[in-house]
Amino acid sequence: MIILAIETSCDETSAAVVRNGKILSNTVSSQIELHAEYGGVVPELAAREHLKNFLPVARAALSEAKISIAEIDAIAATQGPGLPNALLVGFKAAQAVAFTLEKPFVGVNHHEAHLYSPWIGGFEKFQPNISLIVSGGHTILVLVESELKHRVLGATIDDAAGECFDKTGKMLGLNYPAGPEIDRLAEKGNPKAFDFPRPLLHDASDDFSFSGLKTSVRYFLRDHPDLLNDEQKIRDLCASIQAAIVEVLVAKTIRAAKREGVRCVTASGGVTCNRSLRNELEHACKKNGFTLRLAEKNLCTDNAAMIGILAEQKLKQGIPAQDLDEEIKPGWVLA
Ligand code: KG4
Ligand code: ZN
Repeated sequence: MIILAIETSCDETSAAVVRNGKILSNTVSSQIELHAEYGGVVPELAAREHLKNFLPVARAALSEAKISIAEIDAIAATQGPGLPNALLVGFKAAQAVAFTLEKPFVGVNHHEAHLYSPWIGGFEKFQPNISLIVSGGHTILVLVESELKHRVLGATIDDAAGECFDKTGKMLGLNYPAGPEIDRLAEKGNPKAFDFPRPLLHDASDDFSFSGLKTSVRYFLRDHPDLLNDEQKIRDLCASIQAAIVEVLVAKTIRAAKREGVRCVTASGGVTCNRSLRNELEHACKKNGFTLRLAEKNLCTDNAAMIGILAEQKLKQGIPAQDLDEEIKPGWVLA
C-alpha cells in the first residue's frame, strides 16, 4: 500500500510518501525564519504559507519517492490538534486529492502520530511502553499497552516543556525557537551553576508544570541582569534551565514505567531532539533495565511521514477510512 500523507498543523508544511512501513520521502518546508521575527508562530501567516507551499512540497515528496499520483492507494492528513487555519489547508487539500483519485482518506491525530513515531521502521519489535511526547505545545505521558491501544496518564497543566525552553531562551536573548540554541549553549555550561525549581517532581500525579520554572527564571534575571553580559554565565543559565526541565521529564517517565510494570520507554516530539534529554533517558533506562526507543531526530519535529505511517497501521488493522465530509479537530485531545 502506498500512502501520500500531509501535515500542516503548525509551522511546518510537510508531505510524505510511505509504503509498507517504510518512508519513501518526507519533505518538510519549515517556516521557522518567517515566524522568528515575531518571537512565535503567527497563525494567519502560517496558514498562508501552507497554501503557498502545499503543492511544491507535495510534488517534491512524490518526485523524491519516484511515485506518480496515480500510484497512490490512500491519502492521510493531520486532522488535529493544531492551529485551525493551518490544519484546514492541509486537511481540505488532502481530502480534495482523495476525492479526485477516489481513494480512501484517513484523518490522523497529530499526537498519536508522534506517539508511534519511535517505532517507525521497527513495528515488529513493538513492546508495551511508557511514552513521553514533548513538543512546543504539549508534554504528555502515555501508557501504550499494545499497537494503537494507549491511555494518557498525565500532561502539562500549563506550559509545555518546549514552550519553557523557548520562553526562557527569549529572556536570555535567544531567537525563536530557543530549544536547539539552549541545547547547544548548555553543552559548555555548568548545569549546577543555578538552582531552578523542578515543578511537580515529587507530585503523585503524572502531570507536568513548567510555568513556575519560567517565572522563576524571569525573577532571577530581573534580580541579576548583569549575568546576561557574560557569555559563560549565559551558557551556565542554559545548562541549569535545561537540567531542571530534563530532570522532571526523565524522573516522571521512569517512575511511570516502574509503576505500570512496562519494560520499555519511548520519546518523541521536537524536544526529544535535545541531547541532554536523550542522554539522561538512555542513562536512566540502562540503570533500570528498560529498553529505550527514541524517535529519530528528523522524525521528532513535525513531519508527514509519521502521519502516513500511523494511517497505514490503522488501515492494516482494519480501521475504516473516513467520510470526506469530516472536519478538522483543532482541539482534539489524545485520550
Ligand atoms: O514537535 P515540534 O516540532 O512542534 C510542535 O508540535 O510544537 O516541537 C518544537 C519544539 C520547540 O519548542 C523547540 O524549541 C523544541 O521543540 N526543540 C528543542 C530542541 N529542538 C527542538 N528543545 C530543546 N532542545 C532541542 N535540541
Ligand atoms: Zn508536533
